[in-house]
Amino acid sequence: MNSGKKRYVQVGLGARSEMYSQALVETYADTCELVGLCDSNPGRLQDRQAWAAQRGRKVPAFSADQFDRMLVETRPDAVIVTTIDCYHDDYICRAMDAGCDVITEKPMTTDEMKCRRILETQKKTGRSCRVAFNYRYSPPRTQVKDLLLSGVIGRVLSVDFHWMLDTFHGADYFRRWHSYKKYSGGLMVHKATHHFDLVNWWLSTVPQTVFAVGQRCFYLPATAQAFGWSGAGARCLDCPDSERCAFHLDLRSLQGLKNLYLANEKYDGYIRDRCVFRSDIEIEDTVAATVTYQNGAQMSYSLNAFAAWEGYQVVFNGTLGRLEHKCEEQVYVSGDGTIPGALKTEGTWIKVFPLFAPAYEAKLWVAEGGHGGADPIMLADILNPDPGRDLYLRAADQRAGAYSILCGVAANRSMLSGRPVDIASLVADLQAPDYPQAKERSPSSVYSRPDRKTWLFS
Ligand SMILES: NC(=O)c1ccc[n+]([C@@H]2O[C@H](COP(=O)([O-])OP(=O)(O)OC[C@H]3O[C@@H](n4cnc5c(N)ncnc54)[C@H](O)[C@@H]3O)[C@@H](O)[C@H]2O)c1
Repeated sequence: MNSGKKRYVQVGLGARSEMYSQALVETYADTCELVGLCDSNPGRLQDRQAWAAQRGRKVPAFSADQFDRMLVETRPDAVIVTTIDCYHDDYICRAMDAGCDVITEKPMTTDEMKCRRILETQKKTGRSCRVAFNYRYSPPRTQVKDLLLSGVIGRVLSVDFHWMLDTFHGADYFRRWHSYKKYSGGLMVHKATHHFDLVNWWLSTVPQTVFAVGQRCFYLPATAQAFGWSGAGARCLDCPDSERCAFHLDLRSLQGLKNLYLANEKYDGYIRDRCVFRSDIEIEDTVAATVTYQNGAQMSYSLNAFAAWEGYQVVFNGTLGRLEHKCEEQVYVSGDGTIPGALKTEGTWIKVFPLFAPAYEAKLWVAEGGHGGADPIMLADILNPDPGRDLYLRAADQRAGAYSILCGVAANRSMLSGRPVDIASLVADLQAPDYPQAKERSPSSVYSRPDRKTWLFS
């Protein structure tokens, strides 16, 4: 019998997927129904099935090779994709081909070929492909969008954006599947997809060219030696230096990580605590990129994955002034049971420096929850049957997913070739996403007789 609820299945049942299961089975149970679960690891599959059963939901489980069968048997309206990055495209396309809508975690995919396949399949099937860019929903980042839309600093001509990953969360990318480019696309795709998407959306434009340089200069065997740790261990679990190494991750003592990964290692051999200093790591820990945009703006961007604090600083230079935003995040490791990416409000601020008027600090918009309060707001926008009109157009589709990953793919290419890479050479004729446009404020209408004294904070 049709319950009238929207039917969802999930594929990929690791740390990130827990938020979606919880939302479907608990928070949005009145309007949503979790009708199928799929993962390549039988242990995680059974665990999630048992978790749902404890909450009174009998949800059928399917192995990865039974994904198509799951779609036929459970008749979902939408498929939520939270597998490791390199498999997103396959599940997204198979789901859309079977007549389902898709909600996929970022990055939409990891290279331009997979990206083209997603765009073609979406066009052919007409299904909705939603990319879960939660960072847009963090209240301070929405506030930055609000201020830019108001025209307070005029037209943005350039952006300086610097993202720091710390030696807890940042180091963790070097332990996991993310450390191999074939799985994650490297941090320029896996992580910077968030940052490139934010800038595209903040500026309401799309990137044209990317030039990047990058290297792995910290997570190396030599760094372990310099600290006096052997760094020779394949993994933390049996490392002889576990007592001394500041990067030691004790899977046995962290219950969430133990249940999710250590207990299920026997099924697929996936090791969650590989040594961050091992030599076979493929991804960069230090990247600098220059990006040009279709609207004439340009960006200086950097990513550092061994910083002493986690967060970012972004500056917008506009025709009427400058906007500066800094955000510090609390320390966490993915899946350790703490709130991921929670903001430290005392380390987070937005300041506006008008060209010829006093500077001021904006009263910060805040919310509780994962990723600076973004996750619950995004879930409401995705799962609430009537989310209402969003002034900021935060819901992202395959076009936004494509433009953000293509920046990262171009950065990867540029790092190899030493040359700038055109986005159009990766995917031609890609349409711009729908973005709200900023209010036009001409400099003459704001400052017909500018006061040229130096203004400090009032
Ligand atoms: N938006 C965010 O802030 C955010 C945060 C964390 C993770 N993510 C994204 O969520 C996704 C999952 O990340 P995670 O941290 O949960 O990783 P994870 O390693 O904890 O989980 C990945 C899951 O995918 C399963 N899997 C692997 N290959 C599969 C296949 N071929 N078919 C089916 N299942 C397969 C694994 O068994 C595992 O259960 C990634 O794409 C990641 O980028 C997004």
